[in-house]
Amino acid sequence: MAQQSPTAVVHGIGACLPPRVVSNDEVTRRGVLETTDQWIRSRTGIARRRQADEGVSTGDLAVAAGRAAEASARCRADLVLVATTTPDRRCPATAPEVAHRLGLGPVPAFDLAAVCSGFVYGVAVATALIKSGVCERPLVIGAETYSTIVDPLDRDTAVIFGDGAGAVLLRPGHTGEAGAVIAVDLGSDGAGSDLIAIAAGGSRRPDTSARLDRGTRYFRMQGREVYGQAVRRMAESSQAVLDRAGWQPESVGAFIGHQANQRILDSVADRIGIPAAYRHGNIRDVGNTAAASIPLALADTARHTAVRPGARSLLTAFGGGLTWGSIALRWPEARSLNRDPEIRTAETTPRSARRKQPWKLSTTTS
Ligand code: UT7
Repeated sequence: MAQQSPTAVVHGIGACLPPRVVSNDEVTRRGVLETTDQWIRSRTGIARRRQADEGVSTGDLAVAAGRAAEASARCRADLVLVATTTPDRRCPATAPEVAHRLGLGPVPAFDLAAVCSGFVYGVAVATALIKSGVCERPLVIGAETYSTIVDPLDRDTAVIFGDGAGAVLLRPGHTGEAGAVIAVDLGSDGAGSDLIAIAAGGSRRPDTSARLDRGTRYFRMQGREVYGQAVRRMAESSQAVLDRAGWQPESVGAFIGHQANQRILDSVADRIGIPAAYRHGNIRDVGNTAAASIPLALADTARHTAVRPGARSLLTAFGGGLTWGSIALRWPEARSLNRDPEIRTAETTPRSARRKQPWKLSTTTS
């Protein structure tokens, strides 16, 4: 039997999608974009996406997904990491308030900004924090409300992005277990930082009202250039993480890539050599949800597809920065839960609910 080493194990999976579904037909009916259902489906694989109601924030979705992941794991988190491009506010980070609303007490909590690669980066960081003894039950949440930063008049982004949140709760374990993180590959190339960007609002170009205009306040993506980079970087990173894990591509039983574009996903999987039967995703129904994309696809696959627990699995992501990353993982046993379709905002969360602690922090690792 191969030697087993300590690592992090996916112990719980949760998701939260806002209930409002926006179909391609609705996008075209709005009449502000020259596009068609046929174009969007054939060029991206997207048929519909979810949109948070006005007033519902990234943190609200993150709380619901985090609560579902805790329920799936049947234990409380002792650290909260929120990967997001759309934090509730520019300052402070969203994670501390999410931890507070989950009733977790004074646990470490911070945001991670790696755009669409944020969740993969987050799992990598949380794995290192478990291995170094900083925490035992980190909750890694990918959460986004891109509807707040997408220009409704921009064809390159308005038809693609959607809102949502997904989360995993990790625990210490070993590399032989279902759910174990086996290897990680991360990378970046800041030379491409302008390819996916919001021009104003940071320290380089503060968003004084005089400067704020349509061209600089919204999220922009140079679609065609990003397309090529996404295929190349995810394919190379996937190969690197498989090499690190010592796995052959044909031994991979589940592949989940960042749900950016179905054609990109197919090219990446073709390049690595993953058969169609082992490719999983939900881009048709949720579009591109950036940092929430991988955990939402993981949750969807765990819920609807019979992947064998322990099966060799590959997660790969690419996003603004440019950033990319991949994880070799044994498919988890955890059931994915979406327990909170009724999303509460910070204002409507009752104080008593914030303090409720239905599960004790378990100290066992089984
Ligand atoms: O999440 C972070 C990473 N993101 C990505 O990886 C996304 C990468 N990029 C993409 O997914 C694709 O580039 C897009 C979906 C953004 C665009 O698809 P494309 O196949 O690259 O289209 P294109 O820009 O090459 O344009 C092809 C044609 C053009 O028309 P002509 O010049 O051939 O007449 C465009 O004007 O499609 C036209 N077009 C559209 N037509 C209808 C571009 N966008 C649209 C649209 N509806 N929304």
